[in-house]
Amino acid sequence: MPKKQKPNNKSQWKSAAWEGRFKEAADPDAAVFTTSFTFDRVLFPYDIQGSIVHTEGLARAGLLTTSEKKTLIKGLKEIEKEMAKETSADLANPVVIDEDIHMHIERRLVEKVGEVGGKLHTGRSRNDQVALDLILYLRAETGRTLALIDALQKSLLCRAEAEIDTFLPGYTHLQQAQPVSLAHHLLAYYEMLERDRSRFSDSLKRLEAFPLGAGALAGNSFGIDRKANAKSLGFSSVTANSLDTVCDRDAVIDYLSAASILMMHLSRWSEDWILWASTEFSYLELPDRLSTGSSMMPQKKNPDLLELIRGKTGRVYGSLTALLTLMKGLPLSYNRDLQEDKEPLFDTVATLQGALRIMKRLTDEVHFRKPTMENAAKEGLLLATDVADYLVTKGLPFRQAHKIVGQIVFKSIDEDKPFKDWPLEKFQTYSPLFKADLSQRLTLKGAIEKKSGIGGTSQRSIKAAIKKIKTRLKV
Ligand code: ARG
Repeated sequence: MPKKQKPNNKSQWKSAAWEGRFKEAADPDAAVFTTSFTFDRVLFPYDIQGSIVHTEGLARAGLLTTSEKKTLIKGLKEIEKEMAKETSADLANPVVIDEDIHMHIERRLVEKVGEVGGKLHTGRSRNDQVALDLILYLRAETGRTLALIDALQKSLLCRAEAEIDTFLPGYTHLQQAQPVSLAHHLLAYYEMLERDRSRFSDSLKRLEAFPLGAGALAGNSFGIDRKANAKSLGFSSVTANSLDTVCDRDAVIDYLSAASILMMHLSRWSEDWILWASTEFSYLELPDRLSTGSSMMPQKKNPDLLELIRGKTGRVYGSLTALLTLMKGLPLSYNRDLQEDKEPLFDTVATLQGALRIMKRLTDEVHFRKPTMENAAKEGLLLATDVADYLVTKGLPFRQAHKIVGQIVFKSIDEDKPFKDWPLEKFQTYSPLFKADLSQRLTLKGAIEKKSGIGGTSQRSIKAAIKKIKTRLKV
């Protein structure tokens, strides 16, 4: 593609719109260095949409005749169809290498419809044009991202509903803490995604102001009706300040920051499941089709997809950092630095959407080893807090109860005999408050069912949470 490839002859570059001012064509090295067409080509459907609306606006302002308007729109639509059909082979050997998608489309339009094509850029600059393209791109991709989040949430909900009575150890500090339901664990990720969903849908509100009409930086001189143009593209308002408009990339940063937080969630979730897939945990088995093997060690089955989600999180953070750094020293208004916004954004959209798709497949298809989870929850000392809570229900202050149970735990470890196997009399040597009803509290189910408040892990709380989620998801 053009970035690496030098043009065969100078004429390949003779498309500069500013040739009147210049005595020589761009040096091939300069042209290769400055072109963005290799990556901003993906904006072509949005660039064409924006150009069609702009053409209509020019006609409304009396700057184009009806027949000129029709010619331009017909030409633009043809270019869109042709570009949609272009293959990577077509793109590998361009006849002319354009500076960017905007110059590319304008050149093709002039080639197609003649001189009248040159009227398209009236009252418009690539600076407000690219701002519009990016907003249209972000609207579409935010919509796609939201649909993928929704699909993943539905998968989680579906798996969670079937696992309300599957218990496993819950962890803090990666040490066994208290038993929880697998459904509760899965719905924790649901909640993270719910916050992500709200961040992305909130960002849509800031994609409502139409940038076109800001011109290069100062506005346009042709009395173009910005509001009418905005309305035809489904925007509810127009941007208020042309200087700000041509160099505002907040919406890109909004997407990248919401993406970074979402990837952070997927990365934490991946880490849990990478641990769970280990021989030591063995809480789950990933399907072969979503795992990889080792070229050397025959026994290996590796969770590479989860590891890549975790790894790609760094790459998304990198894009966010790139954009924040790109913007921090820019004086008003447009500066060419801004062209560097695109690759990190496009890369993040692809990375994030890919990760969401893969996470959904894994969620749908993972096999949970329920007996292993439940054995792990039974084996340990996870009910210690419940024993302390039991003493509290008998009237003991919690701090004292904590101390007594701490001594019980110490003894249990010392004797290598879990206290769940102790007779009642042995408990009573630590406190006379222990009675026959203790055995009910010393079961996983008993412990779990006690956590019956909102947000807890009891069956009742989880069912209430699921009901709420179902109302939101309309399932
Ligand atoms: N390719 C450019 C970008 O992405 C378009 C705007 C160019 N504007 C300019 N004044 N050189 O930012």
